[in-house]
Amino acid sequence: KFIPVILAGGKGERFWPLSRLQRPKQFLCLDNSDESLLQTTANRLLNLAGGWQNLLVITSELLAEGVKQQLPSLPPDNILVEPTAKDTAPAVTWASLEVKRRYGEDAITAFFPADHYIGNQEQFEKIIETGIKYAQEKQGIITLGIKPDYPSTGYGYIEQGEKQEENDGISFYRVTRFTEKPDEKTAKEFIATQKYSWNSGMFIFPVEVVLEELQKHAPQILQPLQEKGKSAYTQLEKISIDYALMEKTDLAYVIRAEFGWDDLGDWNALERLLAKENNNILVGDSLNQDSENNIIYNNQSDEIVMTIGVEDLVIVREGNATLIAHKNKTQDIKKALKLLQQRE
Ligand code: GDD
Ligand code: MG
Repeated sequence: KFIPVILAGGKGERFWPLSRLQRPKQFLCLDNSDESLLQTTANRLLNLAGGWQNLLVITSELLAEGVKQQLPSLPPDNILVEPTAKDTAPAVTWASLEVKRRYGEDAITAFFPADHYIGNQEQFEKIIETGIKYAQEKQGIITLGIKPDYPSTGYGYIEQGEKQEENDGISFYRVTRFTEKPDEKTAKEFIATQKYSWNSGMFIFPVEVVLEELQKHAPQILQPLQEKGKSAYTQLEKISIDYALMEKTDLAYVIRAEFGWDDLGDWNALERLLAKENNNILVGDSLNQDSENNIIYNNQSDEIVMTIGVEDLVIVREGNATLIAHKNKTQDIKKALKLLQQRE
């Protein structure tokens, strides 16, 4: 039985002011469609899961009501509600325990971020099906690697070792090393070797395998959750699965995944999602004179944004907030939000 789990408890702050505390990135529609990223992610997995009853979503208490509203077909019991957000290692651990308890120890599970773009659905399903098969055959942890195109410091890097197999153009390797978010110098070295892919943040494994590996490498997370269930959360450290498990396990494999992946990291992602109008990305009402290469997102139906003679800006108008940022500074939104919190 295949039980996919959507990780939907992150803060998704980099799309502020469209994203807010109770409306993080995964709840937003970024591509002009009427579906949020979470809704798209759930629909993308439905066929593989064989119906809503086999799909789980794990999120924080703060966001649980929003998840329920966004996914009305999901049985409410399939929403795992974490008392506090402790990053992805506790989420993966607790969800894996729940998968085993509800669906049995033979279940194959997989974790998917709630906030990514995937272009080719058919290829996605084919790769996940292949991943499920390999997970079972090798009793291993299958990662999906993306061909890197610049030395990003925001991703995990997977070093591929010996090639195991190739089927239908899908190649499958042993992982020799996993490095979460290296510094830029290291990232450059990795890319130069041509042996690395980016970690897409999706993992497939037999539930027994991941629980054994957690017992070995992260017992301080597994044991309290095993003994006390989610009431153990208060005593857990905040750590991602990449540091807690992926950097340590010897059982990882990687499939080279080519399905048009984009993690929609910040406002600049809109340039890859939407078509340009007069060299600007425009959502909502605006009037732009002698202005080029801007991203202008006006979420106020009763307001207009006007620009004259500006370039390379991100301008966002939403509710009680306005963002004006240079395009190559949008990663700093997190820092700015810390300052905002201190003020409040
Ligand atoms: N339930 C729950 N609880 N979900 C969480 C929590 C939490 O405490 N924290 C984050 N998530 C969810 C986010 O909503 C997102 O869908 C997913 O887990 C990944 O978390 P991010 O915070 O977005 O991780 P990241 O982008 O910094 O890094 C991960 O993804 C990269 C690819 O986008 C890592 O796996 C990297 O190695 C990877 O390259
Ligand atoms: Mg992310």
